[in-house]
Amino acid sequence: MTTLPVRRAGGGLLLLFVVWLLALAGTPALAQSAAAEQVERQQTQPLNNAPVWREVRSGEAHFTTVRGPETNVLIQSEGNTWRLLRNGPVSVYGGILLVVVPAAIALFFLAKGALKVHGTPTGRTIQRFSTFERIVHWGTAITFVVLAVTGLAILFGKHLLAPVFGTAFLGLLLTVGKAIHNYVGPLFLLFTVLMIFAFARDNIWQAYDALWIRKAGGLATGEHVPSGRFNFGEKSWFWLGVTVLGLVVAASGLVMDFPNFGQTRETMQWANIIHATTAILFMALALGHIYMGTIGVEGAYGSMKTGQVDEAWAREHHEFWYNEVKAGKSGRP
Ligand code: HEM
Repeated sequence: MTTLPVRRAGGGLLLLFVVWLLALAGTPALAQSAAAEQVERQQTQPLNNAPVWREVRSGEAHFTTVRGPETNVLIQSEGNTWRLLRNGPVSVYGGILLVVVPAAIALFFLAKGALKVHGTPTGRTIQRFSTFERIVHWGTAITFVVLAVTGLAILFGKHLLAPVFGTAFLGLLLTVGKAIHNYVGPLFLLFTVLMIFAFARDNIWQAYDALWIRKAGGLATGEHVPSGRFNFGEKSWFWLGVTVLGLVVAASGLVMDFPNFGQTRETMQWANIIHATTAILFMALALGHIYMGTIGVEGAYGSMKTGQVDEAWAREHHEFWYNEVKAGKSGRP
């Protein structure tokens, strides 16, 4: 009971402060109507400050001597929508996806095992990747993994690392991790662009890709479906993953990396949501690619490590390409 006058006095002080703020803001008509509404609200519903907060969150531009985009907007309410999206659906569904995909791959591996080469190795090798192509591939792969690890720490560290290692450790880790992420990002873009130039030609659609789609790549049956230098699965990864997701992730990252080009808070918030969403989809797809390139397909890792493959491997996995190379052609479309 005794707290009521104290609260009333508090409400009055707040009201005075708000009237002063609004008057300072230099929009007298607006300030007066908001202040009048607040005065009225205090009579009908004491302690209800809704008109004040509505005014504060209106996003209305006022007056300031500080120069820069939106420096005259006190509160940008869309920031709350961004926070709810990022910490809600993006983190929750993104997190679920990044657990379900590796679990599904592990189950697939346990059920089917690796795709083996059926014929006996011939001991004769042919060149599958040039030194330049391998440098570009590993450059993209290494920068991707560094960005994925540091990005995941930024997005999920609060939930996964802080409870175990404490917030002080997380703070230190993210100070370093975020700086690494910011600097490695542009390097990843450079490698991605080189990657697109190096491999676009080999990933153009060919009529025989329809056969690969009809047989679902032989993934379920273990059958080897003939293909060119790259099969339809690899082509999908190239266009959808490396090219589209790679460029969108990089572009949205650069919008956040360089906030000095006058972009507004709303632009940065959309960039963040697009970046986090596409990065998660990219990581989920990459898990499939990494599986096929390591334990999923026998001999695949060696081809990118040394650039050479056994002729038996080439014939079974990329028969059309193999036939062309053996006929003395480039094996490229
Ligand atoms: C050109 C490439 C890239 C640039 C310039 C870039 C830049 C950035 C920036 C500035 C942030 C915001 C950090 C902060 O919270 O202050 C960020 C967050 C993030 N990045 Fe990247 N990045 C790039 C590529 C990637 C890639 C390839 C991945 C994943 C494989 C990735 C995953 C993430 C994730 C998961 C976040 C956290 C998003 C969030 O906390 O809302 N990024 N990135």
